[in-house]
Amino acid sequence: MKYGYFDDENREYVITQPDTPLPWINYLGCQAYFGIISNTAGGYSFYRDARLRRLTRYRYNNVPYDLGGRYIYLRDDESGEFWSPSWQPTRHDLKNYTCRHGLGYTIIESRYSGIEARTNYFVPLDEDLEIWRFTVTNRRKTRPSLSIFSSIEFCLWDAQDDATNFQRNFSIGEVEIEGGVIYHKTEYRERRNHFAFFACSRELAGFDTQREAFVGAYRGWDKPAAVERGRLSNSVAHGWAPMGAHHVKLDLGPDETQELIFLLGYHENPAEQKFDPPTSQTLNKKTVKPIIAKYLNGAHVATAFENLRQYWDGLLGICQVETPDVHTNRMVNIWNAYQCMATFNMSRSASFYESGIGRGLGFRDSNQDLLGFVHMVPARARERLLDLAATQLPTGGAYHQYQPLTKRGNNDVGSNFNDDPHWLILGAAAYLKETGDWGILDEPIPYDNVLGSEQPLYEHFQHSFQYTLDRLGPHGLPLIGRADWNDCLNLNCFSDTPGESFQTTTNKDGRAAESVFIAALFVLAARELAEIAQRRGRKDEAQRYLAEAAKMEDTVRKHGWDGEWFLRAYDDFGRKVGSQECAEGKIFIETQGFCVLAGIGLDDGRAQRAMESVSKHLATEHGIILQQPAYSKYYLELGEISSYPPGYKENAGIFCHNNPWVMIAETRIGNGDRAHDYYARINPSAREPISELHRCEPYVYAQMIAGRDAPTHGEAKNSWLTGTAAWNYCTITQWILGIRPFYEGLEIRPVVPKSWRGFKATRRFRGVTYHITVERAGPGNQVALRVNGVPSEGAVVPAPAEGQREVTVDVTLT
Ligand code: BGC
Ligand code: NOJ
Repeated sequence: MKYGYFDDENREYVITQPDTPLPWINYLGCQAYFGIISNTAGGYSFYRDARLRRLTRYRYNNVPYDLGGRYIYLRDDESGEFWSPSWQPTRHDLKNYTCRHGLGYTIIESRYSGIEARTNYFVPLDEDLEIWRFTVTNRRKTRPSLSIFSSIEFCLWDAQDDATNFQRNFSIGEVEIEGGVIYHKTEYRERRNHFAFFACSRELAGFDTQREAFVGAYRGWDKPAAVERGRLSNSVAHGWAPMGAHHVKLDLGPDETQELIFLLGYHENPAEQKFDPPTSQTLNKKTVKPIIAKYLNGAHVATAFENLRQYWDGLLGICQVETPDVHTNRMVNIWNAYQCMATFNMSRSASFYESGIGRGLGFRDSNQDLLGFVHMVPARARERLLDLAATQLPTGGAYHQYQPLTKRGNNDVGSNFNDDPHWLILGAAAYLKETGDWGILDEPIPYDNVLGSEQPLYEHFQHSFQYTLDRLGPHGLPLIGRADWNDCLNLNCFSDTPGESFQTTTNKDGRAAESVFIAALFVLAARELAEIAQRRGRKDEAQRYLAEAAKMEDTVRKHGWDGEWFLRAYDDFGRKVGSQECAEGKIFIETQGFCVLAGIGLDDGRAQRAMESVSKHLATEHGIILQQPAYSKYYLELGEISSYPPGYKENAGIFCHNNPWVMIAETRIGNGDRAHDYYARINPSAREPISELHRCEPYVYAQMIAGRDAPTHGEAKNSWLTGTAAWNYCTITQWILGIRPFYEGLEIRPVVPKSWRGFKATRRFRGVTYHITVERAGPGNQVALRVNGVPSEGAVVPAPAEGQREVTVDVTLT
């Protein structure tokens, strides 16, 4: 069953039923001001940091789940009936409900009792505010008197503190109201120089800023006393719970439409200009007023919306494909790229599953997120890479996370996730291949942000590389530390204390447990580094990286192969993890995918065997399971992985992030049929018809789909913020369709299904637009290129002559 449909032309997903299995959300904003919005207008807003600069309050794990948001109420002032045109919170039986989630905006429309309403929520480019453009149309024969009420609840900035520190918070809330604009200024008198504003384009019949005055005691958002009464009380919040509500009265003739604009925004004043007059405690509104005035104007709002549409046209235009598979096209051309923007911006901070009050930006997460983002806004990827590198430790190790506001490594979470350092090399290699910006390697970057410790970025990679060589275990494989990519394989944790964090507790000094996954990652990163060194004229270094990669590959062959597949690890007792010898957890996905994608086993048949084993033991119709058989009990020596009930998360869930590694591995052994088949199994668009089972949004990837050991096999969880977005994007565009940025030019080496007659693509790359047509003339993956009609050697399209902006590439597959 479906709850809506894809409108590909408008690049929207249109939800036609408000009670989706879970709130289906979208992101507003893509620069500094962000909001989450669900299909029933639930969600919250923040500036840059979901925890520390939260504008609106959100109650987690609420009942109903999706409660609290940007609510507008409509009231028929004759009958006194009122309803929510976004369905929540009053949940009336709306006619013609639709929610259009588009790129950076959401439009919710409905009709009730002859009144049509439409709200377009979006964040204009380069502004720190969101616009609710509300239009209401009277489809009655009569001329009703209507009231419109807006409502939002302010958060007292630090969302964590806001949800816990009530003894203080109930006494600190402050607002100002001037000219119909509600200003939220809690803590502005002391150490903050920022405030929020909530404005309306119409003359007000009243306002409220104290939640209790609006909602009433012992009531909820579904039945606010003030809306029921039809009148706000012009309350001024002193302490308790500051909120914003406007009341506007409208008389509408038959078929008449009127537009109202609401603005919710964030603003900072220079420290020395906080107050006006300077000796007072009154907000200086001089700098914000022109911004408010601008966007309360319908013409400016219309332009801002158009600019946003164009911005996304431009970003998505960088890579467009036309394949025989509609789901591939839709994900590549629209949604997967869009999700990559969200993961790049949010990391794992704010979604309906990531609370936005926990983690900062993950070192490995952010390096991977940029793989799917770098082609869109390379300058931001560059900045992110340098920020990440600046948190690297002098040992070459990395803080597992850093805080986006301070850009400092997060001490609470610490380091010793021994895979972390290598992701920096992979992220940087992707950036270099996309941009050819070699200058980045010379950027002086400190370690742990310590002034004076700067070294060229390139040397940071050398530290990453050396980090592993300095930490080899008994078999010559890399020591795992706290964990590798799999945060839940905690081989040094031995945690028997309730509530202890598996990630940050290390109860063993960790000189035995080794990771075959890190070995594969090391091989890949070392080879990438060699490519970079080679091109920098550091031939000896390149040789050394290659030699160490070969040595590690050898070690994997000797100690990391189990007969039919790659081993996963050795535990603290030197016992195998992910082996025939194990009672449970005999085979893991990570090493099958990653060893082969790193090139291990391509020349000795192991790659094929590993892929056969994946197909036999791990592949299901809903995707590839992380490990089998699932752990049925808690193993002290394995950690969090065995803490999950079988079939969920890392304990034999379908962890979508590493499915694409297997897809890439399949392309590396030339199996386009299987690569694309695996791709289709987790492609959310392809899963749309089973939305009832899948439950998450059909337009974005989820972190996990329940595995076959779970009672809810096929059910997705934790949508939006997952490394799955970037990896699937890279896999489909670069490995299956085979359009791959490379140092010397764009490489084109598709490994597509045999049944495909071909496909087309346009790719903007380093200022040149490549028009690519691939045609199949035989069943294999051999490519022959013609560039602007002329046959060209190899698979890399040479850079065109200066000034040439368009290139045609015809590719024949045989
Ligand atoms: C989750 C992982 C996550 C880790 C770090 C674990 O509980 O299962 O998916 O990466 O926590 O936050
Ligand atoms: C989510 C984490 O953000 C990521 O870093 C980790 O690799 C996966 N979970 C797998 O455990």
